[in-house]
Amino acid sequence: MKITVNEQHFEAEARPGQCLRTYLRDRGCFGVKKGCDAGDCGACTVHVDGEPVHSCVYPAVRAEGRSVTTVEGLAKNGELHPVQQRFLDAQGFQCGFCTAGFLMTTAALDEDKLADLPRAFKGSLCRCTGYRAIEDAVRGVKHVEEPAGGQAVGRNLPAPAGPEVVTGTARYTFDLDVPGLLHLKLLRSPHAHARIRHITTAAALAVPGVHLVLTHHDAPDRLYSSAQHEHVEDDPADTRVFDEVVRHVGQRVAAVVADSEAAAEEGCRRIEVTYDVLPAVIEPGEALRPGSPVVHDKDPAASGIARPQDNVAAELHGEVGDVEAGFAEADALYENTFQTQRVQHASLETHGAVAWFDEDDEGTGRLTVRSSTQTPFLTRRSLCALFDLPEDAIRVVAGRVGGGFGGKQEMLVEDVVVLAALRLRRPVKLEYTRAEQFFGATTRHPFTVRVKAGARRDGTLTALALHVVADTGAYGNHGPGVLFHACGESLAVYRCPNKKADGYSVYTHNVPSGAFRGYGLGQVIFAVESVLDELAARLGLDPLVLRERNVIRAGEAMITADGEEEDLHIASYGLDQCLGIIRTAAAEPAEPAPPGWLVGEGSALAMIATAPPRGHFADARVSLLPDGTFDVAVGTAEFGNGTTTVHRQIAAGELGTTAGQVTIRQSDTDLVRHDTGAFGSTGTVVAGKAVLRAAGGLAGQILDFAAEHLGVDRALCRLEEEAVGYAGKRVLLKELHQAALAAGRELTADGHFDGTPRSVAFNAQWFRVAVDPGTGEIRILRSVHAADAGEVMNPMQCRGQVEGGVAQALGATLFENVRVDERGAVGTAAFRRYRLPAFADVPRTEVHFMTTADTIGPLGAKSMSESPFNPVAPALANALRDATGVRFTELPLTRDRVWLAVKHLDAQPESPAG
Ligand code: FES
Repeated sequence: MKITVNEQHFEAEARPGQCLRTYLRDRGCFGVKKGCDAGDCGACTVHVDGEPVHSCVYPAVRAEGRSVTTVEGLAKNGELHPVQQRFLDAQGFQCGFCTAGFLMTTAALDEDKLADLPRAFKGSLCRCTGYRAIEDAVRGVKHVEEPAGGQAVGRNLPAPAGPEVVTGTARYTFDLDVPGLLHLKLLRSPHAHARIRHITTAAALAVPGVHLVLTHHDAPDRLYSSAQHEHVEDDPADTRVFDEVVRHVGQRVAAVVADSEAAAEEGCRRIEVTYDVLPAVIEPGEALRPGSPVVHDKDPAASGIARPQDNVAAELHGEVGDVEAGFAEADALYENTFQTQRVQHASLETHGAVAWFDEDDEGTGRLTVRSSTQTPFLTRRSLCALFDLPEDAIRVVAGRVGGGFGGKQEMLVEDVVVLAALRLRRPVKLEYTRAEQFFGATTRHPFTVRVKAGARRDGTLTALALHVVADTGAYGNHGPGVLFHACGESLAVYRCPNKKADGYSVYTHNVPSGAFRGYGLGQVIFAVESVLDELAARLGLDPLVLRERNVIRAGEAMITADGEEEDLHIASYGLDQCLGIIRTAAAEPAEPAPPGWLVGEGSALAMIATAPPRGHFADARVSLLPDGTFDVAVGTAEFGNGTTTVHRQIAAGELGTTAGQVTIRQSDTDLVRHDTGAFGSTGTVVAGKAVLRAAGGLAGQILDFAAEHLGVDRALCRLEEEAVGYAGKRVLLKELHQAALAAGRELTADGHFDGTPRSVAFNAQWFRVAVDPGTGEIRILRSVHAADAGEVMNPMQCRGQVEGGVAQALGATLFENVRVDERGAVGTAAFRRYRLPAFADVPRTEVHFMTTADTIGPLGAKSMSESPFNPVAPALANALRDATGVRFTELPLTRDRVWLAVKHLDAQPESPAG
C-alpha cells in the first residue's frame, strides 16, 4: 500500500490485521507510543489527513493513499510547532510517554475545542502530571527559566530531555531497532491455585516461526523474590521463573518465543496443560484462619517467610509504653476498621525488556538487557544470581522509562527474557500488554486497618493502637517492607506516649501486591487520620487543634511502635508551617457550591522518611570533558521524577557553571559501581548527594591542578562566573583538560552516598468538597497542599511531583479499583474498565512549599515524590464526613457508595459507612 508519513512516501504492505500504530513504528516512527492498544489512552495519537486518530485501533490499510503525521513530523523546517514549544515552555510532561499523544491532540484543536479541554482530552490519559502542567502548556503559560547564568539550584530549569520528548525522539525501552529480534509471549494460569500435572509443547513448537517454548522444566531450580532491594533478605524467596504450582490467576505457566508476536501468541494457544486444581483462598482474613489452604509450603528458614503454614509472609509486633493504661486514662476513645482496595500503577509504558548479546562477541560475550526498570543494578545482580553468571556477564540499561511509581522496582520480565536469550543466543523481547499489567504485574497492597485512639479532654493523645492486615497476594515481594513502613511514620508523627502496632502481611491467591508510591503509608494514614478527626469531634475540638497538640516537634526523637529508629532524625521541620497553610486555607471565604449540595472541609497530614532504612547506595562520577563541559554519570533511572534536571543543577552549582554545560548519563550498569535504584524518593537525597560529592571533588581537583600545573591564580580559577565569565571559563577549562591530558591525569571525581542518616519530609492536604445527596457525586471545590521538601531544587518540577501525587491519590480515593472475582480473576484488565483520573477529574491543587533547609539532604533538600500521595484519601474522607456526617471507612469513595450512605442520613447520622 502507498502511504505518506511525515511527507515521506512509503510503499509497504501492512500485515493482515495490523493497526496503524505498529505499521508506523515499523517505519521507525517510535514517537507513536503504545499505552493501551485499545483506544483508551491516546498515547498513539497521529493525524490522518489532518484529523487526530488513535492509531492503535485504526487499521493500517485504512491509511492507504492518505497523509499521516506523527509527532516526528510536527516540526517544520527545523522549527518546532507552536504546541511543541508551549509544552517545552510549561514543561507539560514528566515521564513524557503520553506527550506525543497530547501534542497531536492539541495541535488539531480549534478555538472552540480549546475552550473545553475536559472534553477535548476525553481520550487522553496522563498518569504523571495531574494535568495542570499540560493545561498550562496548552494555554501558553511559560514556567521554565533559561539555563544560562546565575545559580542553577532552586530555579525552574527545564528537563534536559525536553526537546527529545516533544519531538518524539526520546528513546524509551522499546524505541530501538534490534536486528533479528524475537518476540516472547506468556501463557498464563486460568486458576488461582493449581499444580501442573502435564504440559505438552509439541503443537506450539510446530507453529511456523516458533523457536522455543519454556516451561517449569526449563527454569532454574532457584527461589528468589521479584522485589528489588539492596538487602536481598528483605523479601521472602518464594518465586521461580516458572513454577509447577501456580498461585494466582494470570501467573506465568510457559513462554513461547517466535519471529512475531502473532506466532508467539498462537504458540501459547497450542500449549496443552493439565492442571490439578487446588483449593484457593482469596480473602486475607480467611487466609489467616487455621485450616485455610496454604499458599507457600516452604521452609521458613530457607525462604524467609515468617509463618508459611499460617500464610503469614511477615509480621510486626511492637509496643511503646502501655496502650491499655493509655486508653484507661482517656476522656474520649474512638475505634474503627478501615479498608483500602487494590490499585494499579498504570504507568503508561508497560513492563518489558529486550535482551541481546553484544554483536562483536560472537555469541559468547556479554548480554545487554534494556529494561523498563527503576533498579538496573539490582536487576543485574538478581539476574546473575539466578543464572549463575558473573556480574560482568550482564549489562542492564534503562532508556527513558515511561513511568514507574514503584511498579518497576521488580524483576517481572527480565528473568524470562534472559532465560530465552541464553537458550537461543538471539535477541528476545517481551513487552507486556495493558491487560497483563493488571493480572501479571503488581498492585498496591489492600489493607485492613483497625485503629483505636484515646485522648484527654484537651486533645492530648493518651494511646494509639494499630492492627494491620495487608494482602500481599500470591507472592511476598515487598510484603515485609510495605508492612513495616506502613506502621512506621504513620505512628511516629504523633508524640503519643503509648503506642502499639500489630501487623501481618498475608499470602492469598490473588495477583501479587508490590511497591507503590507511599509504600503502605497511605493506607494506614487513611485510617489514623480519619480516627483523629473522629476523636476531635467527640472532644468538641477543631481537628487541626488536636493535630497541633500532638504532632512531633522539631528536635524531638521519634517514637514508633518499634521504638526509636536510630538513623531517622528531624533534620529540618516544616510541619508547623504545613498546618499553618491549612489553617489559612480553611479561614478563607468558601467557594460557591451548587444549591442543595452538602459542603464540608477536611485535612490530613503525613510524614515520610527521606530514604528507605538500612542503606540506599548511590555512586556518581563527574568528569571534565575535552570541550570544557562536564559529564555526570549516575546509576539512578529517570522515569519522570525529574532527577536528571536536579542532578544537573546540583553539579552545575558545585562546579560554578551553567546547567547547560553539564551532560547527564544514567541508568546503565556500566557507568558507575553501584546504585540501589530510583525508589523510596531517593533520586534527589541519595543520588543527588552522590552527585554533589563528586562534583565538589572535581571542583577541588580543578582548582588544585590549575594552581599547580598552570600557575593560574586560584582566585581566578575559582569556578565563578564573576572571574572569567562562563565563556572564558570554558576556554580555561579546555586548556586545563589538555594540560591534564599531557600530565597523564584525568580530571574526574567519584561521589558516594549511602542514604543514612535519614531525615523526614512532611505533607498536609486540605479539601473543601460539595456532595450531591441525590447522586453521591463529590465535587472538589478547593484543594490545597502544603509540602515541606526542604530547599526546593526545582520548584516547577517539585510542584509537578506534588500535583501528580495528589492526582494519583485522588484516583485511588475516588474510583480506581482492581476488582477481583471470587475465583481470584481480575475483572478490570483494561483502562476502560479500570478508570484512571482523566483531565476532567482532577482539580487544580494549590501547592505551597515550606521554608526549611535540611541538614542531611543535599544543599538542604528533602525528598518529595511519594509523600504527597499519603494525606489525600483521609483529607477527602474527613471533608466528606464534615459535609455528610458519615464516616466512610472503605475506599474508593465511589458515587454509589456515597449515595447509599447519604440517603440514610436522616435515619442514622454519623453512621460508619462501608
Ligand atoms: Fe504523562 Fe508520564 S508524563 S504519562
